[in-house]
Parts: sequence; C-alpha cells; structure tokens
Amino acid sequence: METKTRENWSSKAGFILAAAGSAIGLGNIWKFPYSVGTNGGGAYVAVYLLFLVLIGTPLMLAAITLGRKTQLSVFGAYKSIDKRWSFVGFLAVICGFVILAFYSSVGGWVLYYFKNAVTGNLNTKDPQVLAGIFSNMMNSPATLIVYQLIFMALTMLIVINGIKKGIEVTSKVMMPGLFILLIIIAIRSVTLEGSMEGIKFLLVPDFSKITLEVAKNAMAQVFFSLSIGMGVMITYGSYLDKEVNLLSTAVSIPALDTLAALIAGFATIPAVFALGFEVGEGPGLMFITLPAVFASMPLGQIFCIAFFLMVTFAALTSSMSMLEISVSYFVDELKKDRKKSTLAVGIVIFLMGIPASLSLVQGSSFYIGSLSFFDIYDKLSSNILLTTGAFLLSIFVAWILTTKEAVKEIELSGIRFKLAPVWSFLVKYVVPVGVFIILFNSYKDFII
Ligand code: PHE
Repeated sequence: METKTRENWSSKAGFILAAAGSAIGLGNIWKFPYSVGTNGGGAYVAVYLLFLVLIGTPLMLAAITLGRKTQLSVFGAYKSIDKRWSFVGFLAVICGFVILAFYSSVGGWVLYYFKNAVTGNLNTKDPQVLAGIFSNMMNSPATLIVYQLIFMALTMLIVINGIKKGIEVTSKVMMPGLFILLIIIAIRSVTLEGSMEGIKFLLVPDFSKITLEVAKNAMAQVFFSLSIGMGVMITYGSYLDKEVNLLSTAVSIPALDTLAALIAGFATIPAVFALGFEVGEGPGLMFITLPAVFASMPLGQIFCIAFFLMVTFAALTSSMSMLEISVSYFVDELKKDRKKSTLAVGIVIFLMGIPASLSLVQGSSFYIGSLSFFDIYDKLSSNILLTTGAFLLSIFVAWILTTKEAVKEIELSGIRFKLAPVWSFLVKYVVPVGVFIILFNSYKDFII
C-alpha cells in the first residue's frame, strides 16, 4: 500500500493526452498500415474495428475504472482487491520487458530515418533506392544497435524524470502536431495518381480473406495499439480525480487511437499503390513508402524531417509508458530507488533487444525455427502476453471486482451510465469468450 500522497494529473486533458500518448505510437503509424498490407486489406480493417468496439473499448473502460477505484498502479490494483491476483502485475512487468525489447529496435529505425531526413538522403521517389536505404540499415548491426541504444536512453531519461514533467509536457506538444502532419500526408497520398486502388484496398473488405490468422492478428493489434493488457491504462487511470467522467475518457482514447491508425493507413497504403511499392512488404512499408510521398510534395524534406521527429516522440510517449510499468514494480513493490531501477531495467531491456535487432540482419542465426527473435518478441508480447492480460482484466473486473462495483465507481462523477447493462454483458461474456478463443489458438501456435 502506498502511504505518500500521490501526484494527480493537472487536468483531465493532461490524462487524455498522456493515455493517448501511450496508445498512439509505432503501433498506429508503423504497424497498423503494414499489418493491413500483410493481412489482406479492408477485411482486416473491418475485423479490427469490430474488435475495437466489442472488446477494446469496453476493456479500456474496465482498466481505467479499476485504476481509479483502487488509486493504485497495476500491481497494487489487483492485489488490493484479491491477493491471489498479484501475479497479473508480474505478468505486466514481463510484458513490458518483451515489448520494449523489440519496440526500441523500431524506435531506433525511426531515429536513424530522422537523421537521414535531416541530411537529405531520403529525398527520392525511386522505390529501389528507398528499399536499398532500408535494407542497408537492416544489414548494419552497428547502426541498428547504436540507434536502439539512443532510443532506450531517451526513454530512460524521461522515466527518470517522473510522471508529470516527463509524460504530460511531451504529449501536450507533440500529439496535435503529429495529427496535423498525418492528415497532410494522407491528403497527398490519396491525391496521387493511381491511389484509388489503394483506397479500395483499405476500405473495401473482401470477406473471403478473413481467416483465423487475420482475426488473431487484428485482436493482438487492438490490444497493442490501445496499450491494453499490461496495466498501462490501470496505472494511468489511478492518477485520475474522482470527478472525472470515465465514460467519455474511455471512449475518446480508442477513438483518437483509431483515428490515428486510419489516417496513417491513408497516408501509407494509397501511396504504395500509386508509387509502385509492394503492399505486403511488411515492417519496412512505412520506411520505404513515406519518403517517396514526401519527395512528391512541395517542401517535402521539411515534412519528412518533421514527420520522423514527431513519430520519435509518439514512440517515446509509448515506450516510456511500458518502461514505467516495469520500473514502478521495483519502486512501488520492492521499494527500490527510482533512478537505479530505471537504469537497471532499461539496460536489461536493451540487452534483451540486441538479439531482436540482430535477428533482422540477413543470414542471422537469431532464429528459433522459422521465427526471428524480432518476430518472437512481437508475437509473444501481443498475441500471448497482452492478450492474456486483457483476458485476465475482463475476468477480474467482471467477476472479482464485479461490474456492479465498477458501475458505482463510474457513476461517482455524477453521470448516469445508461449503457451499463450493455457494458456489463460485454465485459462478463463477450470479451472473455472472444479473447479466450483467440488466445487458445495463439497458444497452440507457440507450442507446436
Ligand atoms: N500502444 C503503443 C503503440 O501503439 C504500444 C504499447 C503497447 C504501449 C503496450 C504500451 C503498452 O505504439
């Protein structure tokens, strides 16, 4: 139990910006567009939206409510209601380690691209040259590791400085900037000649493309993108005042997050078709396509620099929330020093991340079976750990805390929660059953 008085958000807007800051990151700008590309386009988008509404958003409300009710971070929140559930906090720490180990690798790519944007190296529309820049980076272990290290160091710096100063200030400035920029890029992308194919690919679902694999990936992406399943939203919610309207908060974060992902989709996919890139390219998609979009815009280099700078910040507001969860375990639970814990945890995550980065280099032996370490971290964190965390969250709020108690907490701010029966039904039955089916199938993948 904490005895010291806890910091609260200076305003509800501060919380929304920070929570949205955690949610909006590489998951939206880098991962969503390429996953649309590798999972069959509009059908994946449709399944994503379905899961977002039926599973992601109800869970967002559950997480924030649990946090605000207990006023404790993820470890304390579960423990204070039922001691046997303390293990969920531990799961969250492991999840933080695994996600950040590969997230920091991609964060490093973004930093490297920022540098190249500044030096003007990205100033070309030629798909081959751009693919070459990406694969050169991928085949240079030193580049991958140095930039990953810089990204981790920046994340640690922010976390050492504590929650308010670090998280709120950065989010407040960068998030609106990123939205404006993404909209401008999307407008350029959809007005390129030949972009129509891409717009159709994104919007028109071919339902025959929906497979179990697509559903699994879409659900994992919902949790990854919303930062749900490892306690970030529980912890952030614990800093909210009792007067804050949890309902509007729990709806605005997924709404903003999805808007960002969709705009990023519109910024990337139509350009892929218009400029002759490969839609199933995978993780390189944003890095090779967007520079070509910038090169076909007036003042393109300036846009390119601003874009990679803002994506860096979006990635940092996400990565610091992951690191924060793991660090707060050592600070709150094990009563360790914050600075030392951040350094220790950050260094271990960086070391874990090295094989993820190196596994990308051609001919690398950092593989288990056909999966690279990078893919293993990615799949293990989203498809298994976050999804398990989300499953446990729904069971806990529905059956241990009980939705009745949760609704009481939600109505504390004086609002009437008219949709409470619908929400309760979703959290009690639809979410756990839906998530369990997917989870069961994902476990199977890992075991076989
Ligand atoms: N939501 C973040 C993104 O989209 C990633 C993240 C996952 C952050 C889990 C915190 C916890 O980039």
